Amino acid sequence: MTGFPLHRPRRLRTSPAVRRLVAETRLHPAQLILPAFVREGISEPVPIGSMPGVVQHTRDTLRKAAVEAAEAGLGGLMLYGVPAVQDAVGSEGTNPDGILQQAIRDVVAEVGDRLVVMSDLCLDEYTDHGHCGVLAADGSVDNDATLERYAEMAVVQADAGVHMVGPSGMMDGQIGVVRRALDEAGHQDVAVLAYTAKYASGFYGPFREAVGSSLRGDRKTYQQDPANAREALRELELDVAEGADLVMVKPAMAYLDILRQVADVSPVPVAAYQVSGEYAMVEAAAANGWIDRDRLMMETLTSIHRAGAEQILTYWAVEAARALRQG
Ligand code: PBG
Repeated sequence: MTGFPLHRPRRLRTSPAVRRLVAETRLHPAQLILPAFVREGISEPVPIGSMPGVVQHTRDTLRKAAVEAAEAGLGGLMLYGVPAVQDAVGSEGTNPDGILQQAIRDVVAEVGDRLVVMSDLCLDEYTDHGHCGVLAADGSVDNDATLERYAEMAVVQADAGVHMVGPSGMMDGQIGVVRRALDEAGHQDVAVLAYTAKYASGFYGPFREAVGSSLRGDRKTYQQDPANAREALRELELDVAEGADLVMVKPAMAYLDILRQVADVSPVPVAAYQVSGEYAMVEAAAANGWIDRDRLMMETLTSIHRAGAEQILTYWAVEAARALRQG
């Protein structure tokens, strides 16, 4: 049997050096985006129980976290506001002095020259019913009335100095409406990161605690059905036509096939969001000693990148960036 096997793929796995040489996928800290929560009216950061290591920031600690993110070499920050008061139309979302707008000003002043400052553009953090839009008389989410609120939110966030807005409510026409509102207000240079293929997912569970959402029911009339892939491509086409600068697939791990399909045809950069439940799942298993947390952090991020995401939102962004720098 000399000369057999003729083909030995293991040769390229024999040493760390050769594995490093042939690695196809290499993440860089500049591709990572840290989602961060800032809550109105607190004097100390509040830990989020279902997301160990993640907190609701005060304005002050958010500023410090932003500096830390910049020092770690991250590409950006995605900010979420947690207002003290919620109401039916999410008024705080369009208050120029609302918590998110204040946080945008703080963070842009602190690190705006070093990383891309982004903000969530959605109503669920601000409404007392917890839906991503305003409700019609029959209790359903009113698409077109919600678009008017999104247009106002976009301008208020841009006025506060944000570099990129992230419409995440999955209303039809949201990208076009936001783009037009920004342009009409003179904010042509504010970019739009479209939540393009956002699925109605159980993986958002811990996020609801993070933003104090009071949602009863679900978001299945506006977020996509996990059973479907084709509509992700339709949403991509529409978002690009409406002016999306980047598109995103969310969640990430359970939707790597969607990510691959979108990345194969998208004319604009494709991001993915490793959401709260993906983070919580790994943290919880690791806390039980069942898996190796650090290893899973890098394995999941590498897989998301391999599947086609050029930018990744992850709650591990700072830690992963540090790990990447140490090689
Ligand atoms: C909506 C929004 C959600 C997330 C990001 N933007 C919640 C939802 O759609 O229910 C989830 C992010 C996460 O779970 O980490 N504003």
